[in-house]
Amino acid sequence: MEGLKCACVLASIFLSFATGDHAPALVWTTHRNEDVRDHHSALENITPEKFYHHIKKMTGHGQKSLVIAFFEQTLSLEDFGWHDLENKIAFPQVQSVSSSSQFTNFFTSVHFPFKGLKNFQKDGYDIHHVDLKKQNMENVKNLPHSKKILVLLELDDAKTDEDRPDFLRRHDGIVSEIYSEFVNEGYQVTAIYTGHHSSWVEPEIPSQKHRVRRLLAEETNNTISGTLWKSNDSTVLFYSKSVPYVENDGIQVYLSGQPEVLSVVNDSMQIVQISFANGIKISLQFTVSGGYWSINPITLQVNTTTALLKTYPEIEVPLNFSYHCSQNVEFTSTTGNASLVFESFQVQPFLGELSFGDTYDCVWFFTSVIWSVFFVTLMLGSILVWGLSMLMGIKSMDQFDDPKGKTIQVTSTE
Ligand SMILES: *[C@@H]1O[C@H](CO)[C@@H](O)[C@H](O)[C@H]1NC(C)=O
Ligand SMILES: *[C@@H]1O[C@H](CO)[C@@H](O)[C@H](O)[C@H]1NC(C)=O
Ligand SMILES: *[C@@H]1O[C@H](CO)[C@@H](O)[C@H](O)[C@H]1NC(C)=O
Ligand SMILES: *[C@@H]1O[C@H](CO)[C@@H](O)[C@H](O)[C@H]1NC(C)=O
Ligand SMILES: *[C@@H]1O[C@H](CO)[C@@H](O)[C@H](O)[C@H]1NC(C)=O
Ligand SMILES: *[C@@H]1O[C@H](CO)[C@@H](O)[C@H](O)[C@H]1NC(C)=O
Repeated sequence: MEGLKCACVLASIFLSFATGDHAPALVWTTHRNEDVRDHHSALENITPEKFYHHIKKMTGHGQKSLVIAFFEQTLSLEDFGWHDLENKIAFPQVQSVSSSSQFTNFFTSVHFPFKGLKNFQKDGYDIHHVDLKKQNMENVKNLPHSKKILVLLELDDAKTDEDRPDFLRRHDGIVSEIYSEFVNEGYQVTAIYTGHHSSWVEPEIPSQKHRVRRLLAEETNNTISGTLWKSNDSTVLFYSKSVPYVENDGIQVYLSGQPEVLSVVNDSMQIVQISFANGIKISLQFTVSGGYWSINPITLQVNTTTALLKTYPEIEVPLNFSYHCSQNVEFTSTTGNASLVFESFQVQPFLGELSFGDTYDCVWFFTSVIWSVFFVTLMLGSILVWGLSMLMGIKSMDQFDDPKGKTIQVTSTE
């Protein structure tokens, strides 16, 4: 019996994780209660009841008390940790309102936060459900006034042209606007930003002809490791895992230091000039045709000599995609004595915002995955061939004992 109970508890814990009905929650208040001594471990998975008790301790005791919970369909810790290349987060406004509030708290994992908050009904709170998928924001602002209000607000879905950061930034604006509205109306506000589910399992990006992945110039420790060049007008980005180099008549010159990158762009063409302090100048021209962008031959200028560099195969990438190659990308001159080499290269011209789009990978190389599949197939194939050849090699008897004939007799003489 005890064992069965234990198995049930384990199964329910497992199920709760598997279904992802837990989400992080950010809580901030306009006031500070003296009796808030919060002892929850940062890594604790908080039950609905515990969450309710934590929030209850934070709510105001004044004339007008309001608890407002903003629900995303899915929310995860990654959303809070996200940064773009300029180190901007997805929630600048919520960050600013919560950091200027009296009290903030962050729960990394709350189980069914919605269910937990419904307990406020017992405490005489008027509960209002607002769904921004069906209603607009005016409905929130015109809620009937009362002494104690709990608003459970469902944020709307992403628009078709929004990616996750844009979507969260839009909600960031909505959350801070509604919060400020209630603060201005004189409520003691306890605001909660959370989700119904964890978005831990990312939805798959629909696959294209090429392997598509969104690489944000592989970041480590929130700083970019490697070389990143961006143009003065932020419309072109170059990324390389290590310092690129120029090889000129057998001499390698590393292109370290931040170059001056000047760009002139219109709808069909982008001209970029990259100049280094040591006198090396790289001029490129990106052109657009038929929905693809490509790099025309690059002009490399080292002091007084110039060379025209090309790469093979030519780089031709759909618009709004970045070109990415995990191998070295080498632009070489026809004479072969000058080249420009990038390691793990990523580039995108004609940018609207300063981040790489989906990647268009150069797939003419063997990745470790391809190699391992290849070897495993080869190994299994050779085992099969060996097995078959062994089978062929079995010699069966060609003479059998005749059951109807005379049996073999052994004369025994003792
Ligand atoms: C991140 O930073 C820590 C401490 O600064 C360092 O020990 C660690 O190696 C860094 N990790 C990477 C991947 O650079
Ligand atoms: C970038 O440099 C180009 C070339 O000098 C210049 O025409 C352009 O105005 C600059 N753009 C910005 C945003 O400074
Ligand atoms: C873009 O600029 C290039 C060179 O500056 C020019 O030849 C071309 O006509 C321009 N295209 C458009 C559509 O303005
Ligand atoms: C360019 O010329 C200067 C002066 O002659 C020389 O010091 C420098 O090394 C040269 N740069 C390169 C990349 O060869
Ligand atoms: C590229 O993105 C811009 C802005 O997001 C959009 O207006 C344009 O239609 C896109 N181009 C293609 C070919 O998808
Ligand atoms: C490469 O070699 C050609 C002929 O062999 C020579 O004319 C040219 O100056 C060399 N280029 C560089 C960058 O040294």
